[in-house]
Amino acid sequence: MADTDYVIEAKNLVKSYGQNKVLKGINLKVKRGTMVALLGPNGAGKTTTVRILSTLLGFDSGTVHVEGFDLIKEADKVRGVIGLTGQSAAVDELLTGRENLVMMGRLYRLTPASAKARAQELLEDFDLLKAAERPAKTYSGGMRRRLDLAVSLIAVPPVIFLDEPTTGLDPRSRLSMWNIIKKLLADGTTILLTTQYLDEADQLADSIVVIDGGKVIAEGTAAELKSKVGNDRLELSFKNEPAFKQATTLLAKSVVETNDKEYTATVVIKDTDTDIRQTLNALAEAKVHVQSMEIHKPTLDDVFLSLTGKQKTTKKEETK
Ligand SMILES: Nc1ncnc2c1ncn2[C@@H]1O[C@H](COP(=O)(O)OP(=O)(O)OP(=O)(O)O)[C@@H](O)[C@H]1O
Ligand SMILES: [Mg+2]
Repeated sequence: MADTDYVIEAKNLVKSYGQNKVLKGINLKVKRGTMVALLGPNGAGKTTTVRILSTLLGFDSGTVHVEGFDLIKEADKVRGVIGLTGQSAAVDELLTGRENLVMMGRLYRLTPASAKARAQELLEDFDLLKAAERPAKTYSGGMRRRLDLAVSLIAVPPVIFLDEPTTGLDPRSRLSMWNIIKKLLADGTTILLTTQYLDEADQLADSIVVIDGGKVIAEGTAAELKSKVGNDRLELSFKNEPAFKQATTLLAKSVVETNDKEYTATVVIKDTDTDIRQTLNALAEAKVHVQSMEIHKPTLDDVFLSLTGKQKTTKKEETK
């Protein structure tokens, strides 16, 4: 048995496709009842990792335990505790949403009555009641995603893998998916979610593992990752060119960015209170009037940029 504090535990996971080593020793742990976000750009190895952890794909070396079960020796037991959604869900296009759910419930050996009850519950949770009696083929992309997820949750698995659950969703469907995920977490589900959206990881995850090129390049809470990138910035804006010029000369040492059309200057602040006070005092003493100011905290996008040296690209809905 592996350490049972961790429901998912992968050590030194390696996977190659031919000559192409796509996972180069991934280490990953997810504590019971928490969510870890696996964050990375296209081709980082997110789907590969999730497919391996959910027994759909073999791997070359390393060890994986899910709920204490060895992924290779006890694959059936692992399958019994997990739900997977993302790529290919088992929705029948010709059946209605409700029929799909009831049928899947029966496959999971629920009694007819509890399959019906569970279907009703999921249709409500996923905001699909109005469309419940329509064939799945008439559903919009967002509705279809919600049905996919609902179907995978029929048997309420204690461990769930979500592979980019919100990619390609409109903002409203995205929010409702977030709410569903929050509800799952509140119910004690353990979740590994992959995403390319930094705000999604920031919003939902207890901790974040950033991967790039098949390797973990950083991990921690959103706050920890942000603090790695460092300091807050103070953006000052001035009324006119003379004030702007005077200020940039005065603050030359700490200015990191200027915009001479909008008369703004950005300074790095290490100690929020002291540095802001000192900056403003220096300007006041020189009688330079500050028109407005704004504090910028580092975002996860900044984290990603500083870790990978790459701007994160947002991809379009992939064709499946
Ligand atoms: N069946 C396969 N055969 C060969 N190479 C593959 C296969 N599946 C994935 N790869 C390669 O493995 C690497 C990782 O792919 P993976 O799908 O895990 O990335 P990802 O992080 O999920 O990317 P995305 O954000 O685009 O979904 C990529 O370089 C990809 O081309
Ligand atoms: Mg993927």
